[in-house]
Amino acid sequence: MFRSIEWLGDRVRWINTLKLPWEEEFIETTDPERVALAVERMEIRGAPAIGVAAALAVALAAARSTTASLEELRHSLLRVIERMRRTRPTAVNLFWALKRMEAVVSAEYRDPGELREAVVREALRVYDEDVGVNRRMAEIGSKLIDDGDTVLTHCNAGALATVALGTALGVIRAAWESGKRIKVVATETRPMLQGARLTVWELMKEGIPVKLIADTAVGYVMSRGLVSKVIVGADRIVMPGYVINKVGTYTIAVLADRHGVPFYVAAPTSTIDFDGRVEDVVIEERSPDEVRTVLSRLYVTVPTVEVLNPAFDVTPPGLVTAIITEQGVVSKPVEVGLRELRERRPRRELAP
Ligand code: MRU
Repeated sequence: MFRSIEWLGDRVRWINTLKLPWEEEFIETTDPERVALAVERMEIRGAPAIGVAAALAVALAAARSTTASLEELRHSLLRVIERMRRTRPTAVNLFWALKRMEAVVSAEYRDPGELREAVVREALRVYDEDVGVNRRMAEIGSKLIDDGDTVLTHCNAGALATVALGTALGVIRAAWESGKRIKVVATETRPMLQGARLTVWELMKEGIPVKLIADTAVGYVMSRGLVSKVIVGADRIVMPGYVINKVGTYTIAVLADRHGVPFYVAAPTSTIDFDGRVEDVVIEERSPDEVRTVLSRLYVTVPTVEVLNPAFDVTPPGLVTAIITEQGVVSKPVEVGLRELRERRPRRELAP
């Protein structure tokens, strides 16, 4: 199984998604700051992957520390946690994973060795859980896909956005592997082209039929009846069911509603921000040059033009047909099922 990020005992290795599809470059480091830069630059991207990367950065800091002072080690780990928290603001998995790491760092230990071991163990748990959760979501979600479906997906919610398999692409993969003859429509996803570069790369590697469309073609393609379902991932889901995902998702949801196409969101419960409010979500604004250029290679406008570059948008609950989680499918009205999930939350997640 392809893994986009790995723990190699004393170092972390990831595939640099900025180089795809032209080059399969793997980067290794023992330095937590290098992991922070990888998340900021989007070498590692996608909500679950950046949560895992953050946990592994804390594990790296623990593994390479030689201090004999428990308090010194604790402070250095908390500094790494704070640094990782500043890398990207929108995907909640980052904060979810760091909250878990912080709880472990803040517990009682006899000596630094015990703290080091606990931190590495928790980071590997976050890592392993991601694979298991995606596998369960894929099994559950694939039942919603019918033989002959054409599924539209946006951005990249695949193995390259998680440790392995992916969320939306995990569902698509499982449907394909179960023998359903499906086709995928991938949107380019300007400005960073995660759909054109990453989703297409992943699907073509596995022989899953995919057609690439410009983001602007979604309306036409749906109006011609060429899409039977939409499946996207999410960076954060806020009660009562607002889906914050790659910019362009909202447009697709409105069009799906207009054309009677089911709109599914595949997201692990770690993406659900049960306590947050939609008004408080920080929508990341990225560099204007992402829009002024094509991947920093060619200016497509006057280089000094003012730009608005929100990386995410907000789809209201009324446009969501169902949310596929590892704990089951939350169907419309999603608010009811999300409330049930909130009540079933493990106690650990209720801690302040
Ligand atoms: O800016 P990115 O590439 O990190 O944004 C990623 C997305 O919006 C994905 O759709 C989302 O994280 C779901 S990934 C399983």
